[in-house]
Amino acid sequence: MSTVDIAAPREKYQRKKVSRGNFELYSWVFMRASGALLVVLIFGHLFVNLMVGDGVHAIDFAFVGGKWASPVWQIWDLLMLWLAMIHGNNGVRTILNDYVSRDLLRLWLKVILYTMTITIIVLGTLVIFTFDPCPVGADPDLLASFCQA
Ligand code: HEM
Repeated sequence: MSTVDIAAPREKYQRKKVSRGNFELYSWVFMRASGALLVVLIFGHLFVNLMVGDGVHAIDFAFVGGKWASPVWQIWDLLMLWLAMIHGNNGVRTILNDYVSRDLLRLWLKVILYTMTITIIVLGTLVIFTFDPCPVGADPDLLASFCQA
């Protein structure tokens, strides 16, 4: 017959897992704060791209070139990229911790997750800051108006 260990009623409560400090608390607070910021960033992005002026019909290479000529939109898009990626990465990390019980599988899924997140953040950041709105030899009709100057 097996026996079950029951702690003495006045014994101090002991956590089974090794404590990771307050990391999970901060990560939860980050989800809330980044979610609130993302609402502003995403709806601002959708409004400017889809509602202002000719709306969705205005979106082409010149539109993007014109937008990224302004540091305001560079920073706006950079924040949207970083926050959405880190928020999404942290959310999926939580889901993997909750649902994948096999240690090695969970480790590899996280390696894939972090690799994809870092790759997209690095590539997206490079695109925002190295984008050339006036490539040499391109059809002038496709470029932003300031390229002719
Ligand atoms: C307007 C934009 C967004 C808002 C307001 C928002 C809000 C939130 C909040 C508050 C949570 C935490 C829930 C909790 O644990 O209490 C959450 C979780 C999550 N979010 Fe977002 N989010 C937004 C955009 C995104 C985007 C762009 C992605 C993906 C790239 C994403 C992926 C996730 C995932 C995977 C979770 C974890 C869900 C879970 O724990 O079950 N979210 N979101």
